[in-house]
Amino acid sequence: MDLVRKSDFFSIVLVLCLVLNSLVLFCNGGITSRFVRKLEKTIDMPLDSDVFRVPPGYNAPQQVHITQGDVEGKAIIVSWVTQEAKGSNTVLYWKQNSSKKLKARGKTYTYKFYNYTSGYIHHCPIRNLEYDTKYYYVVGVGQTQREFWFFTPPEVGPDVPYTFGLIGDLGQSFDSNITLTHYENNPTKGQTVLFVGDISYADTYPDHDNRRWDSWGRFAERSTAYQPWIWTTGNHELDFAPEIKETRPFKPFKNRYRTPYRSSGSTEPFWYSIKRGSAYIIVLASYSAYGKYTPQYDWLEKEFPKVNRTETPWLIVLMHSPWYNSYDYHYMEGETMRVMYEPWFVKYKVDVVFAGHVHAYERSERVSNIAYNIVNGICHPVKDQSAPVYITIGDGGNVEGLATKMTEPQPKYSAYREASFGHAIFSIKNRTHAYYGWHRNQDGYAVEADKMWFHNRFWHCIDESPSHYS
Ligand SMILES: [Fe+2]
Repeated sequence: MDLVRKSDFFSIVLVLCLVLNSLVLFCNGGITSRFVRKLEKTIDMPLDSDVFRVPPGYNAPQQVHITQGDVEGKAIIVSWVTQEAKGSNTVLYWKQNSSKKLKARGKTYTYKFYNYTSGYIHHCPIRNLEYDTKYYYVVGVGQTQREFWFFTPPEVGPDVPYTFGLIGDLGQSFDSNITLTHYENNPTKGQTVLFVGDISYADTYPDHDNRRWDSWGRFAERSTAYQPWIWTTGNHELDFAPEIKETRPFKPFKNRYRTPYRSSGSTEPFWYSIKRGSAYIIVLASYSAYGKYTPQYDWLEKEFPKVNRTETPWLIVLMHSPWYNSYDYHYMEGETMRVMYEPWFVKYKVDVVFAGHVHAYERSERVSNIAYNIVNGICHPVKDQSAPVYITIGDGGNVEGLATKMTEPQPKYSAYREASFGHAIFSIKNRTHAYYGWHRNQDGYAVEADKMWFHNRFWHCIDESPSHYS
């Protein structure tokens, strides 16, 4: 009898300890997920994998990808590579149900990187498209013509529903392939990918083996040819390699990927803005100068006042290096940019910031840390309803593997964190509401491991934070 009582007593103590333990986690900050994934090494898919297959036929276009080509969403840039010869740089395109076929002509580039010479890289802008329309397009000639399609966005306006996919730090590992597959099969269909930087990880190979840029282009084509990917530059786009005399940063990225930077008054392809449906998206460059008087700073200072929330209620910023990150990896690397720009983010009520770089997932509460002026000592993040939610989504699945070490205890500003691969969906419903979900790769396609209703900071600025967060 005594023994039974003892074991009962210990069970009660154990339960109490567990409850207290979870309460402690709760009080420290938000949630550190207890999800345990199978730990396996993240390795790149071999070059002869199916997903890297070169399309059949002589000089067949490969690595086809599209991105937005202007500010308003009425233009698109089609890019592709032909390997053996320059071939045609023309895109044939037409509206669904229309027999009138139109032609656009692009330009062709090649580049050398150490002992690598690229294929012929074609970039072809198509302008004056109609909104909310399905277009078909063809690249290549004769036997090796390839046909794709895309949808243009709805006309820019305040209550236009639109769904963005969020992917970061993708790379070309077996896990990258799972992430992309999950994104494609997510029943909430993303219409455009906001990509937060670190594309191919070719620079992890000897001499930055640029064949891995080509293989990445072929791998991602199944998505990038059919919906625009909005590009942010990460550190793996730098390809700065003075040891092999490659000293011009971003050379492969600049040759292979296009951004509509001139349309938004930017002077470099690494920072720019676009409107898409009801969203105004500002892309920033963590690896280009951003201090006072730099071109990026001057541009951003003029850019924020241009955002008309009556036209585009949702203000989204993309960058690579996160400002609020509670993992050990890349801790505080985004700090100098935060110091420069955070007061603007609060003043102009940015709704959400998506970043990558840290190979894990994290979502913040709405916080700011802008009161500090060196002498006053006020240097802690505080709850701020004018501040964005910061989401780190660098969990695409690249060869470098997961960031698993976190700073403990979980800081108060961190609402949810988990070291798993995945992607997210940001689905704008109208000017006041957007639904957000993060999907880890181990779950079924429809499962959201983290989710949140976003309330627009300009139109419906209510406090979304949980009751324990004050
Ligand atoms: Fe990175």
